[in-house]
Amino acid sequence: MSNPASPPAVGILDPRPELTFPPGFLWGAATAAYQIEGAATEGGRAPSIWDTFSHTPGRVRDGHTGDVACDHYHRLRDDVALMADLGLTSYRFSVSWPRVQPGGTGPANPEGLDFYRRLIDELLTHGIEPWLTLYHWDLPQPLEDAGGWPARDTAARFADYTTLVADALGDRVRYWTTLNEPWCSAFLGYGSGTHAPGRSDRADAVRAGHHLMLGHGLAVQALRAARPEAEVGVTVNLYPVTPATDAPADRDAARRIDALANRFFLDPLLRGAYPADLMADLREVTDFGHVRDGDLAVISSPLDLVGINYYSRHVVAAPVEGVEPEAYWRSPSCWPGSEDVRFVSRGVPVTDMNWEIDAPGLVETLRRVHDEYTDLPLYVTENGSAFVDEVVDGRVDDAERLAYFDAHLRAAHAAIGAGVPLRGYFAWSLMDNFEWAWGYTKRFGMIYVDYESQARIPKSSARWYAEVIRRNGLAAQ
Ligand code: FCB
Repeated sequence: MSNPASPPAVGILDPRPELTFPPGFLWGAATAAYQIEGAATEGGRAPSIWDTFSHTPGRVRDGHTGDVACDHYHRLRDDVALMADLGLTSYRFSVSWPRVQPGGTGPANPEGLDFYRRLIDELLTHGIEPWLTLYHWDLPQPLEDAGGWPARDTAARFADYTTLVADALGDRVRYWTTLNEPWCSAFLGYGSGTHAPGRSDRADAVRAGHHLMLGHGLAVQALRAARPEAEVGVTVNLYPVTPATDAPADRDAARRIDALANRFFLDPLLRGAYPADLMADLREVTDFGHVRDGDLAVISSPLDLVGINYYSRHVVAAPVEGVEPEAYWRSPSCWPGSEDVRFVSRGVPVTDMNWEIDAPGLVETLRRVHDEYTDLPLYVTENGSAFVDEVVDGRVDDAERLAYFDAHLRAAHAAIGAGVPLRGYFAWSLMDNFEWAWGYTKRFGMIYVDYESQARIPKSSARWYAEVIRRNGLAAQ
């Protein structure tokens, strides 16, 4: 663990060498269905938990919804043309479950599948490798009504949906990831309730985490059966967790948050077991009676790759009697059993999400997964930053976002130098979009979206990224 006092490597003043990435490195950008598609009631699509949640007053900033979003459903050709202009070699998107199987069970919706066929064909025409995520948080509402992810049956439904998508689209997609960030689905969706479906029950959050992973394992098996040639993985969001001081109590706080944020998922997925210390920490919350014999073998079904989303670091300290945990970007109720751990800010530069900028944390995270868990190829499936953007004379000069990408790509390169088999990088995000509970108030895109006119303006970071891709690396500075 690095010294929490050390400043993040975002300085853009030091001279820095040219860096070249390995041949064939995938250069991508990522999005997710509910965040960009819009057309919420078109083409046979039915509501997901995010439609219900965003239409519930008080849940999403300024009452924003994904009803229209970036209208990508109607603009896919233009959007793929923008990707081609950037020179992307891969594009990570998610399939909206309620668009292709509106009820969450039963027959496919051919019109929904056609949309993805057109998208994928357009990508392939431009030489862009499609990277398909099966679940980026939009559970069909009927499945939530039947119990949602805390209910075991949802995992089986996810496997059926996977077969349906693999049968329809598997002939043209090589890279598949099952879940995006199960931590968020479980602990924000069912713990803090700050994400859809907005429930708040500690034991349900833990159950949801298990059933998400069970659904992942069943989906891997379904994909293998339908498409033996597919490259299959999962995307987890990981954080280095650093104690605020070396005091044993702070170190224990870091151990607890690391267990909930990282090892809750990494250990079952890649080692086939829950960590003993995590189970002990959760003793008051659940007896893990929802885990059945054989589940962990399914959950740890062999993979071809691991996707990692990296944004920031957590620095934490032990509870102090009488002191409320510091207000933080995640509410205490998304850390079941460890609600009183304090999240400490170091006073280093932050993004518009108030997330600390910490590029060395990406090296740490990638090395940890490689050193402690797996030799599998790794991909950064998301990395990026929100900043306030301004359009001046038709241009958006997002120097801070550009510096963030630059610092993190240098970190990615350092990880490769240290022996990590990192095979690709996806910037979050291709374009500004619906940032969940923050609505349209946070911009992560390399392409600016004017939500009134739906005009797209590539920002400075997009032009810079195009040059990175062209060189397969970073220029000297
Ligand atoms: C991740 C999500 C993605 C986006 C970024 C900012 O947690 O996977 O959809 O919201 O954060």
